[in-house]
Amino acid sequence: MSQPAIDLGRALAYGLDASLWARDVLDFQPDPWQEKLLRSTASQLILNCGRQVGKSSTIATLAVHGAIFEPDSLTILIAPTQRQSIELARKCIDVLQRIEPVEHLSEDAKTSIELKRNRSRIVALPGHDAKNIRGYSAPRLIVFDEAAFAADAVYEALLPMLAASPEGRIALLSTPFLNFGFFCEIWHGTGSWERYEVPSRDCPRISPEWLEARRLEDPVTFEREYCCKFSSGADTWFPDELLDRMVADEYELFP
Ligand SMILES: Nc1ncnc2c1ncn2[C@@H]1O[C@H](COP(=O)(O)OP(=O)(O)OP(=O)(O)O)[C@@H](O)[C@H]1O
Ligand SMILES: [Mg+2]
Repeated sequence: MSQPAIDLGRALAYGLDASLWARDVLDFQPDPWQEKLLRSTASQLILNCGRQVGKSSTIATLAVHGAIFEPDSLTILIAPTQRQSIELARKCIDVLQRIEPVEHLSEDAKTSIELKRNRSRIVALPGHDAKNIRGYSAPRLIVFDEAAFAADAVYEALLPMLAASPEGRIALLSTPFLNFGFFCEIWHGTGSWERYEVPSRDCPRISPEWLEARRLEDPVTFEREYCCKFSSGADTWFPDELLDRMVADEYELFP
């Protein structure tokens, strides 16, 4: 008789604490800042991070946790290009596959994941054009990946989705880019955002030697890509790979 009570208690604890759920169910051992984020209840989160510290995987874990524990919920994933938002959706699928078979995903799993168990949806949208993101309402979570590389108009088009969603949350995550735009302004502003600054040197999976080699190669790029520093742009040469992250070079129309 006591077993169901224990299971119910554990299920409740998992629902309340995404960090505990990630450790126990996904075998994901979060870094301290990842643990704080997974436990946070803030409605507005902004992450200014170095490359490869784990921002997308953490937010994918948070997105899937919410989809599982809040039936019928909608999670919006957005990034400057469709390719990037699908990449984030893939991270969500990776998390889901640890829990249930892939057949539980909808056919349109590339851009929209639907959980058969509770009809929650995770939808990946391209952020290259504000027009493409209208039509969704009351999401429980909006995730904007690589937000520093997106236009202000896209952020402005996202906000009304939360108007009728008092419990709705938004998370902006990015490596920094130029010293202007909504991501930079929110980061430096006084609004009620929970802020996370995670330079790559704080990541236990990135060696100091590797970072030092990058610093010697190109100190300006190093500051921006790995040290959470926005660039003035005046003294900066932007490699093609970086410019690729800004423009909508490939996208798919939704059915
Ligand atoms: N706590 C963790 N334990 C082990 N591996 C982790 C952890 N967090 C992230 N990783 C791994 O680190 C790698 C980078 O993670 P992720 O892609 O989320 O980083 P990112 O900050 O979004 O990178 P980018 O700057 O390229 O967008 C991935 O292989 C991910 O699985
Ligand atoms: Mg990422």
